[in-house]
Amino acid sequence: MSKINKKTDKVFSEKIPSIRPFEFNDKVAHVFDDMAERSIPFYKEVQKMVTGLTLTYFQEGSTIYDLGSSTATTISLISQGLKDHNIEDYTIVGIDSSSAMCREADTKLKSIDGDMKKIYIKEGDLFDCPIENASVVIMNYTLQFIDPLKREKLIQHIYKGLRHNGILLVSDKMLQSNTDTSRIFIENYYEMKRTNGYSDLEISQKREALENVLIPYSVKEEVALFRNCGFEAVDMFFTWYNFSSFICMKKNDQVGDY
Ligand SMILES: C[S@@+](CC[C@H](N)C(=O)[O-])C[C@H]1O[C@@H](n2cnc3c(N)ncnc32)[C@H](O)[C@@H]1O
Repeated sequence: MSKINKKTDKVFSEKIPSIRPFEFNDKVAHVFDDMAERSIPFYKEVQKMVTGLTLTYFQEGSTIYDLGSSTATTISLISQGLKDHNIEDYTIVGIDSSSAMCREADTKLKSIDGDMKKIYIKEGDLFDCPIENASVVIMNYTLQFIDPLKREKLIQHIYKGLRHNGILLVSDKMLQSNTDTSRIFIENYYEMKRTNGYSDLEISQKREALENVLIPYSVKEEVALFRNCGFEAVDMFFTWYNFSSFICMKKNDQVGDY
């Protein structure tokens, strides 16, 4: 695994006079691994689950895509997993529009024991990058940052690029349908952030920066999106208060529970 030391996230620790919309810029990319581990519930566990599901559903000779690959944490784990299983006939493509994230990804990938001839980090918009011959497509905490009006187009694009029996794995922050539940889930989420060392100032400034940038769907809306784009079997493989992860299969002979 990566030998790079994590830098501590202090992006919102000082009082900011005028909060600007959140961006995946140099400052964020530099501390992103620490930010993700302290801000996303069970981040490491979900990464492990995504890696396990990827190895289960990977088809020989196909491509694994990580859309919104950030610092290549997921790609590093998958690359190690493929190596441990002596799987050689694969390609991994990570796509991210943030040049700072792509630089961090390149640095991390240089430090791992993966086959760099089979791993590509592409800087670009997800809408401009072809998806072909895929058996697994991953979108960890990225769909929530896509303009809701364009989400259907993106999921259709992914569906077309998947092989039969291929899967899409999506993790996102979710919206609750009931205001009471929503309040309680958010309180629990902020408590988790406090436990992980974030101050109330950091929590409130980041919340403000993410407003209208991170736009969550409800579980019902997210599942409907996958189904409308053709995914026949949709199931949840992880959930914690306001965060959930889904597995969507391109399979004609199976019906999910949702
Ligand atoms: C929360 S991070 C993803 C975290 C990462 N998948 C992980 O599990 O550690 C979201 C990423 O999506 C990227 N992103 C957002 N919108 C994008 C787009 N339209 N095209 C490409 N990348 C995008 C951001 O630059 C950012 O690195």
